[in-house]
Amino acid sequence: MAKKQYPCDSFPHLIHGADYNPEQWMAQKDIWDADMELMGKANCNEMTLGIFAWSAIEPREGEYDCSFLDEIIEKIGSNGGKVILSTPSGARPRWLAEKYPQVLRVDAQGRREHIRGRHNHCFTSPVYREKVHSINRLLAQRYGNHPAVIAWHVSNEYSGQCRCPLCVAAFQNYLREKFHDDIGELNQAYWTSFWSHTYDSFEQIEPPGELTETGIHGLNLDWNRFVTRQTVSFIENEIAPLREYSSLPVTVNMMYEFTELDYHKVAEVIDFASWDCYPEWHNGDNAVIAQRAGFWHDLYRSLKKKPFLLMESTPSLVNWKPYNKPKAPGLDVLSSIQAIAHGSDSVQYFQWRKSRGSSEKLHGAVVGHDGTGDTRVFRSVQTTGSILKKIDEIAGSYVDAEVALIFDWENMWVLEDCQGFSNVDKKYMETCYAYHRIFWERGINCDIVSPHGDLSGYKLVIAPMLYLTDEATARNLENYVQRGGTLYGTYMMGTVDGNDLCYLGGVPGAGLKNVFGLQVEEMDNLYPEERRHASLGGVSYPLEDYCETVKLLGAKAIAHYTDGYYRDTPAVTECTFGRGKAIYQACRDSGGLKEQILADLLEKLDIVSTVDTREALPHGVTAHSRTDGQHTYVFAENYLETEAPAVRLHRPMENLLTGQIEDHCKLTAYGFSIYKSL
Ligand code: GAL
Repeated sequence: MAKKQYPCDSFPHLIHGADYNPEQWMAQKDIWDADMELMGKANCNEMTLGIFAWSAIEPREGEYDCSFLDEIIEKIGSNGGKVILSTPSGARPRWLAEKYPQVLRVDAQGRREHIRGRHNHCFTSPVYREKVHSINRLLAQRYGNHPAVIAWHVSNEYSGQCRCPLCVAAFQNYLREKFHDDIGELNQAYWTSFWSHTYDSFEQIEPPGELTETGIHGLNLDWNRFVTRQTVSFIENEIAPLREYSSLPVTVNMMYEFTELDYHKVAEVIDFASWDCYPEWHNGDNAVIAQRAGFWHDLYRSLKKKPFLLMESTPSLVNWKPYNKPKAPGLDVLSSIQAIAHGSDSVQYFQWRKSRGSSEKLHGAVVGHDGTGDTRVFRSVQTTGSILKKIDEIAGSYVDAEVALIFDWENMWVLEDCQGFSNVDKKYMETCYAYHRIFWERGINCDIVSPHGDLSGYKLVIAPMLYLTDEATARNLENYVQRGGTLYGTYMMGTVDGNDLCYLGGVPGAGLKNVFGLQVEEMDNLYPEERRHASLGGVSYPLEDYCETVKLLGAKAIAHYTDGYYRDTPAVTECTFGRGKAIYQACRDSGGLKEQILADLLEKLDIVSTVDTREALPHGVTAHSRTDGQHTYVFAENYLETEAPAVRLHRPMENLLTGQIEDHCKLTAYGFSIYKSL
């Protein structure tokens, strides 16, 4: 039996909680008592504390006062709740910014910022690191073994860049190390003879930016890598005192469609993943919105290959989008259960209680300004909480996936940066979503993995638009196919190496020509309205944006172009390599072609849905499963506001919400069912 893995070992349950800022209500302690009562009513068992509480804990430099935390943790604990405790580095006190300007960032125009909002500190500044280290040590010593505290939430939503002299020097040192203190090696790797921008020394290197360099792609890539590295090193500095005085697990809360940091690297230094999920529900087709949110749930689950936490979500609406629409009744609960279906062990909200003033005073919260539990939103949260109690045994179980999709931040950066193809139609994210959707619609679990990740457990790996394929990735893919895996690559794969230099000798580079048995000759970049077509099994499928022509070197064509100057040449190929197969889709289809090829592959590889279907489920319906090695849990979800046709299960299962044994379910509007194998 597979061992259960919990994000927080000391609390092996599903977590239902919220960000809670009691420090905002210090002058009205009666609110704290009301909160305790309401938390019980809302079926909440956790609160995340201290995220922005630095000035409450250290009002003046070196003067600490933890009395409010002592008191509130005690209250929550004796109320039967648990606490995830945050380190407060997401926003710093005014005295710190005033006394040590070096903690403030310098922007791309060279301007030193003033205090501004939050999440805006220099990650290199030794002073900031030292101050954060000190307050974290204090928190770890004081609460690191507290029975009510179950995990560390380190800072908040790390993001941003700084170009101060300290950061510039650190960047230069990073490059010195990478290029063995040899500026000639850097010049070669960056191809700086282009436009005569050769560097004479590492001291000349500035971060890229509008006023400095923009055209050296290798530099741009290394700057992005450096930003991740510096952030990770800052996180390590935060975590060090926590680990010294406490054995509680550590997480950082990551973000939706966040492009600035390579979270695969961030994941290496934390114990479990968590993230903040704010999709734009009801702005278009909720089925598409759900699937995209599902992509990120899958990605964050796959980061640590164990249950993650949904650290933040709104119970109703946010206040920072152009239009802020509340989640409709029903969807509010469903969007929470969605996270559990994808492998989360929690549903947590931003925020418990609406603040009275400042910029988030109109943001959704479990408790509104009326201060009661008598609202629609509160009742929905109550419902979610009571469902989580009923399905608590699911905590710690995992999502087993036979399919993985490769997603890579570095690839996203360099694709965005490159000038070529159609500059406005690269659509890397969209393309990843489009492949993921095929599995989502069929109720097939899908992991989202790094190109360097372990692929050995998957029957099928999809690698959309892997334009940057470094040597390590190429070897990883090659070994995967060699040993019997089925790899599905697409146009643009293997164009540049890890320094963003084009491969010489033919694309896909780094030996992948052999794996796919072909070489790319040229790319036709289509105008937006232009369409080409490919024929597969006598059916014609529309193509858009990109059509590569390829020369076969051992692969066989399984689909052909039927128009364009490349009519009758291969559009999709298949090649046997080692014990496996490599499929190459040389063109972007408008929907249909990849679905058909993948349907055939799923059949051949015997990859089945978690429910009884060999086809896509009705529009808006999906299914997921989790397992603890002994039992399987199946979730069927309907993201439309209309009833869905019945979904059939493979075999009778116990409906965990009703106790009935069923072999199919009828999903109402925004309905879901949760089953356990018998
Ligand atoms: C998150 C942030 C929270 C809160 C929330 C509002 O990104 O972590 O502190 O601002 O957004 O939606």
